[in-house]
Amino acid sequence: MTANTRAFDHWIRTSFCDLNTELEDLYWQQDDKANVVNIGDDLKQQLEAEGRELILPLLNEGNTDNGFDNAFDLLGNVGLYMAACRRHEITEPSRERSSPLIEASALAMHIGASIGVTPRFATAHLTTHNKAFNGTYKRFTHLEDEKVFIDYNTKGILAYKRAADALIKIQPLGISHPITADLLNVAKQGLKDVIDSNKLLFDKLDTDRFFNCVRPYYKPYRVGKEVYRGANAGDFAGINVIDLQLGLCFANEPSYSQMLVDKFLYMMPEDQLILRDTMRRSSIMDDFLNVNACHKQSWYQENLSLFLEVCKLHGTTAIQHHNQLVGKYISKPSAGMAEQHMDKITASGPPLHVLLDSLEKLRDRRAAHKRDDIRTRYADIQTLKNSIN
Ligand code: HEM
Repeated sequence: MTANTRAFDHWIRTSFCDLNTELEDLYWQQDDKANVVNIGDDLKQQLEAEGRELILPLLNEGNTDNGFDNAFDLLGNVGLYMAACRRHEITEPSRERSSPLIEASALAMHIGASIGVTPRFATAHLTTHNKAFNGTYKRFTHLEDEKVFIDYNTKGILAYKRAADALIKIQPLGISHPITADLLNVAKQGLKDVIDSNKLLFDKLDTDRFFNCVRPYYKPYRVGKEVYRGANAGDFAGINVIDLQLGLCFANEPSYSQMLVDKFLYMMPEDQLILRDTMRRSSIMDDFLNVNACHKQSWYQENLSLFLEVCKLHGTTAIQHHNQLVGKYISKPSAGMAEQHMDKITASGPPLHVLLDSLEKLRDRRAAHKRDDIRTRYADIQTLKNSIN
């Protein structure tokens, strides 16, 4: 880390967080809490100017060879600054043709292109790759609900990753290997941990605070000329590794592969490699469907039962995400939102009903629900269930 990088990191962890919190307090006092126009203009100017002053020397320094971790971390800090400017409408992508944050854009593009990730802050910056000092990690604000949101996103992501790591080790062993049962049990536990963590998030997170003071920092923003979609908790390979290795989703289905193509650069490079590798593999479900002659074998009965439990749990996490988290924290509060703010709700940018429709399809694929309009594994799961004694 250079002295300039340290100074910027210190600012992000202190004054930046203070300024955002002060602004959130001002917005929160209004009847229309979603309004940010003509509120706290001096604080906004201070935020923009202080960030710019710290970024300029970093741009001139040309942060090119301080190792991946430092470069990724610095990109995150620039990204948090740009996302906060977007949240306070210091920048607004529909108002501009290119970002007015010229120095920040240049620095973000330099780093992003050189390490092979999107030039904006991604979920990993706030969750799995967010170093805590003396118990406190980087956040936009001091608000408790933001901490709750990030804590349980991190927990959920790490638990999904544990399940994915176990599943990915099955293919070289094969479905009949005695140790495959151990791996399926690890996957089961990982998914149960996701369910427990999601439940706590659902119980603890306040809807109004999340919707008005946390979610707005995850909006799309411009870097240079391009608008980059917002960060979401799904930007890691593990969730798709689980989908594909279980066989519940198909990498050659247009809407699913579109989602994968769109998310590659939002993931850490190591996750990009894992996902590419998984996209070329066959699924565990197909392996079970292809061993008709072995139904009576004890390994088949034991490992298939475990496999079906893992599928069921993965479906449960998806149902929970869609019906509970998205329902409580996005769909319901959107219904009561003033018309002029409606276009700014989702992190990825599409209109809400389009986003909800695609999330619902993902839920139904993962849960192997019966649907006529999209391909799900409903029938195959029934076939496999019928082969259990
Ligand atoms: C994507 C909402 C927490 C996993 C999304 C999207 C929304 C959303 C709206 C679509 C992306 C977009 O906005 O453009 C929420 C809400 C949460 C929450 C309101 C809590 C308050 C979590 C947690 C996890 C998670 C804790 C687990 C690690 C995912 C995944 C995706 C996603 C994997 C990508 C799409 C997919 O593959 O299903 N989320 N989410 N989310 N979220 Fe969440």
